Amino acid sequence: SKKLTIGLFGFGVVGQGLHDIIRTKNLNIEIKKIAIKNPEKSRTLPAELFTTDRNEILNDPEINTVVELINDTEAAFEIVSRALSTGKNVVSASKKMVALHLQELLDLQREHGTSLLYEAAVCGSIPIIRNLEEYYDNELLHSISGIFNGSSNYILSKGFLEGLDYDAALKQAQDLGFAETDPTMDVGGYDAKFKLIIAAAHAYGVIIKPEDVLNIGIQTLSAYDLQYAREKGIKIKLVPVAKELDDKRVALFVLPKFVTETEFLYNVEYEYNGVTVQAAFADQQFFFGKGAGGHPTGSAVLSDIAALRYDYAYEYKKAHAQNELKFTNNIELNV
Ligand code: HSE
Repeated sequence: SKKLTIGLFGFGVVGQGLHDIIRTKNLNIEIKKIAIKNPEKSRTLPAELFTTDRNEILNDPEINTVVELINDTEAAFEIVSRALSTGKNVVSASKKMVALHLQELLDLQREHGTSLLYEAAVCGSIPIIRNLEEYYDNELLHSISGIFNGSSNYILSKGFLEGLDYDAALKQAQDLGFAETDPTMDVGGYDAKFKLIIAAAHAYGVIIKPEDVLNIGIQTLSAYDLQYAREKGIKIKLVPVAKELDDKRVALFVLPKFVTETEFLYNVEYEYNGVTVQAAFADQQFFFGKGAGGHPTGSAVLSDIAALRYDYAYEYKKAHAQNELKFTNNIELNV
């Protein structure tokens, strides 16, 4: 396997989680530099490891791998593009950045022979992108649905199971490091949408623009909705769906949905995520695991780093060429 010398961007919840895992497991992975925004923050690592100058990583020929874990989407795109264009492979956890720029990122990889992996961007610790690529051309996926946003699910669980009000539950999700800097991304269904778009690229080979996909979040739910669900013995979950329609088109949307006891998603609580895949021949399959938090997400970043040692690159579904599914946002909402 190749020796990776890493330049890390960002040392927040996920960056620290990753560092923690690498250290505790005594893995032979060298993080040479960590680029941070705020040099004033107290750090547990030696000061010389940190820099505020991104060029110290991007211009260092010894660094062959960039790990991008910052929460500024445009800065992340600049960093990742520059790294991919200068021969460095990249691991990223920035779902918004990947969802917004997927086509450009693909073109850059092709042009420069570099590889970008982002397993941690979708459903934290669940290796869902690799698994979706595993279905390959043999299997038509009728639908992919799930719980992709830990913060919204945490808020809904805290309300349903513990009677905690929305604002207090959101505050807890923020304190635990699950929520985005702008919580609208979580509770408005945007974060789930970005992840859905990435999942669809790997499941169906379609590249879809976020502005074309409908998202309605949990902030639209009323006390009456929640009361109604409780009385009926069902739950409300924020559910992103990618659905294949008539073999030719795929529809995507994110909506709060009633979930009954018979569905796998019913028991997915707090920061856990779940993905239900309905396949033509394999039938129904379910993936479950933690969708947010330093160690779970850090573990997914680490799996990408490990994969790069063996030159792993995404396939983006050869089925794309064969099935030629087209995106449609003309959907009937009787789901
Ligand atoms: N804000 C995201 C969530 C973090 O709540 O799921 C993990 O992507």
